[in-house]
Amino acid sequence: MFLNLSISLSVCQILLVKCEEPRLVISPPLSSLYAPAGKPFGLMCKGEAQDAEDGAFTNMEWINPRGEIIQEGTPGVKEYGLDSLKLSFVEPKADDSGTYKCTALYGNTKTLEVNTNITFYDDIKFENCEPIQNLIVGKKGFISCRPVGNPQPNINWEKNKQRVRSERVAVTPAGIEISSVTKEDEGLYTVEAFVPTTGTNKYKNITVNVLTPPRIIELPEEFVAIQGEEYTITCGADGSQPLAYSWFDPCPICSAWRILTREKQHLAEMESEPRGGGLGCPSGGLLDFYRSDR
Ligand SMILES: *[C@@H]1O[C@H](CO)[C@@H](O)[C@H](O)[C@H]1NC(C)=O
Ligand SMILES: *[C@@H]1O[C@H](CO)[C@@H](O)[C@H](O)[C@H]1NC(C)=O
Repeated sequence: MFLNLSISLSVCQILLVKCEEPRLVISPPLSSLYAPAGKPFGLMCKGEAQDAEDGAFTNMEWINPRGEIIQEGTPGVKEYGLDSLKLSFVEPKADDSGTYKCTALYGNTKTLEVNTNITFYDDIKFENCEPIQNLIVGKKGFISCRPVGNPQPNINWEKNKQRVRSERVAVTPAGIEISSVTKEDEGLYTVEAFVPTTGTNKYKNITVNVLTPPRIIELPEEFVAIQGEEYTITCGADGSQPLAYSWFDPCPICSAWRILTREKQHLAEMESEPRGGGLGCPSGGLLDFYRSDR
């Protein structure tokens, strides 16, 4: 084999043809690769040399970002025809990201290597993005939606296809804060999440309704409940406008309440000690309640 190599090199020299140096080539042929985590992925390392005999590349190895030779397994290597070694990931994680190196011997003497940087990214997800959200006129509002991913996406909010821009509005990573809601805040909001390095781009629509508080009747302004005992608040509203009866959910306290819907009124039954906070009433009236130790 060594003999073959010497002959082919001298042929090049005699014919004055420009001989390409033997080299290793990785496919896909990029020095930085991005691939979604959790999905099977493969890299091929192939030896290339002009006029070389098959099998001229020996001792082919893939080396992981920690400098260890990769054996069969996950990720694992597999010969793939002569002069080629494939590196396969079955379910890559973000932690598997790094610089992978392929090495080989050419003609049993010349050591060759090539490397590639690979980033396994987590796809964009939207957390706390209810498709329909309600705000109350005159109150502080929060439209909740948090895009997450690795790398972290850039976030852009639009309302009715226009960039959200208002003095009353602050965009945060978890959603939009509105200092004092007006009817104009109603509309179709679109959250865009974009990761430039991977090109991943996702959108989420949120329909925002702005509700006007109805006049609430039958509602105690303040009440004292006994810890551990069931307590029922009846909340009714006058019917001067079409009422969308729903208890809205401004705070985690609501998990302590069991909401019962009646035809014309809502009952909230307290099942455990109330913590401080508020509980929403039909179409937006806010009912404050107080800790029993107040
Ligand atoms: C690959 O990653 C290493 C270590 O992070 C860095 O030094 C090198 O510049 C990167 N190469 C490319 C081509 O991005
Ligand atoms: C958001 O709504 C618009 C307008 O109705 C629609 O064209 C678009 O496909 C929706 N996008 C998503 C991600 O649902």
